[in-house]
Amino acid sequence: MEGGVSTMSFEEKLNDWQRRTAAATDKRPERKSEFLNHSDIPIQRLYTSQDSVQSEEDYLQRLGFPGEYPYTRGIQPTMYRTRYWTMRQYAGFGSAEETNTRFRYLLEQGQTGLSTAFDLPTQIGYDADHPMSVGEVGKVGVSISSIVDMDTLLNQIPLDRVSTSMTINAPASVLLAMYLVVAERQGVPWQKVSGTIQNDILKEYVARGTYIFPPKPSMRLITDIFDFCAREVPNWNTISISGYHIREAGSTAVQEVAFTLANAIAYVEAATKAGLQIDNFAPRLSFFFNAHNDFFEEIAKFRAARRMWAKIMKERFGAKNPRSLQLRFHTQTAGSTLTAQQPDNNVVRVTVQAMAAVLGGTQSLHTNSRDEALALPTEASARLALRTQQILAHESGLTDTIDPLGGSYYVEALTDALEAKAWQYIEYIDGLGGAVEAITEGYMQQEIHRAAYDTQQAIERGQQVVVGVNQFTTAREPEPELLRVDPQLGRKQTESLAKLRSERPVEPHRRALAKLKETAEGTGNLMPVVIDAVRAYATIGEICDVLRDVFGEYRPSVF
Ligand code: 3HC
Repeated sequence: MEGGVSTMSFEEKLNDWQRRTAAATDKRPERKSEFLNHSDIPIQRLYTSQDSVQSEEDYLQRLGFPGEYPYTRGIQPTMYRTRYWTMRQYAGFGSAEETNTRFRYLLEQGQTGLSTAFDLPTQIGYDADHPMSVGEVGKVGVSISSIVDMDTLLNQIPLDRVSTSMTINAPASVLLAMYLVVAERQGVPWQKVSGTIQNDILKEYVARGTYIFPPKPSMRLITDIFDFCAREVPNWNTISISGYHIREAGSTAVQEVAFTLANAIAYVEAATKAGLQIDNFAPRLSFFFNAHNDFFEEIAKFRAARRMWAKIMKERFGAKNPRSLQLRFHTQTAGSTLTAQQPDNNVVRVTVQAMAAVLGGTQSLHTNSRDEALALPTEASARLALRTQQILAHESGLTDTIDPLGGSYYVEALTDALEAKAWQYIEYIDGLGGAVEAITEGYMQQEIHRAAYDTQQAIERGQQVVVGVNQFTTAREPEPELLRVDPQLGRKQTESLAKLRSERPVEPHRRALAKLKETAEGTGNLMPVVIDAVRAYATIGEICDVLRDVFGEYRPSVF
């Protein structure tokens, strides 16, 4: 060596280190012969500068600055230095009154946005007194059958100051209509109302199942909402294109991103085909992702998704408005990772997952509660979940600089690898004719089921550790205090519906449903006539039954 300075190149030094390390592992082998993450991405022993950004030009192309294309590092120029993500706990159970109480409690505890969980009858467009609703009223969410329930749900909630998310899909137009009529009654102009409806029917076909109508009329209902809100409710996020449930059904992180973006492409295509101008509706598209266990993969996933969406909207659809290119998303920590065993462990899981969401640049976040593998959260466990977010925001230092893991050799390499795999799926789905065709053929479902099966096999073989479940177990602990839903709620809701039906003016109700049917049979925007039906005290079941008569119900050919 000249003057003691090695003449070896970096590459040679790295290879030399790899050789020496390989020799060391002969004596003490590594835990696994091959490290693969759940998306089948090989995880190198070491990442170095060779795996990350190679030049300023490379930086600008792959990362860019926060708030600028391709938004890899975040959609806002100052991110959490200006505004923390919205702390938006998913809540809803029992009656509108009970949920209103929980809403107001969480807001008093510092929550900064609302998120509404509806019971299954509401989600599938049945009134609480429908025979199909027996046993489900208020069980997995709040029971909302009419504008009377919605008025109660939003009692003392200032709709000009609080943004509300509603996890509602097939009957999204009905719940949005109810929300707007309550705003009207509060004297809040629709231009000042903000919130989100999930309104993402494609993932319901793929992973969640609360669909009602076939794809074509479902897409019409969705694009009618895009068009109506662009004109009348400009601050309303008209869809929350969801990867969360795709992941909860067992997909990999790559599939979560790829299938969500493929669905998003289908929505944009449907809207432009319906004659909507992309920069009029695209700024109000939003997304919803999972924050799962693999910390670095989740952070890479969010960064890759932002970069991919920016590219899709700019290059594939020619969007010009920067807000059309920005992937704004809500995150929920992974419900499927929660365990009934040793529920306190869930607080740690949720904390790690929430950190990944924050380091991944989420705009809004729900943290699961420790008892959610057992029941809907109690007030105490929902409060602890919210406190978890508040500690991350105010005590951890995570929020003081933007995208702190940007430039990490590992995170940048993982972001690239995940993106590359996700593009392969999107190209394949394009080849099938797009997301609707891929879903109709069952392609996405088969891919998810295969990934879910592989994971379950790994857990059952003990290859994948679930602390407290297949390792580090203890004798079953006493069941913690759980939230119970009033078993009499169905009867109470039935009585209040009978009262509503007996007291509402007959003629406006009849006329409104007749007008709804006529519009559904035609091509007009359905939102105005749904709003009129809600004003005339038509129930969600009555409105959805009119639409069922006209559109029929979806019967999947594949499961
Ligand atoms: N600098 C300047 N402005 C900033 C800023 C910054 N750093 N950060 C935020 N802002 C601005 C934003 O631009 C926005 O203003 P605008 O509306 O004029 O653009 C305002 O502050 C609010 O910020 P966000 O829009 O980022 O935050 P929101 O919380 O209002 O919206 C969202 C987030 C993702 C866009 C929205 O769609 C949302 O809230 N989604 C939530 C969906 C949800 O809760 N889903 C739950 C589903 S539960 C479920 O399905 C699971 C169950 O099935 C098990």
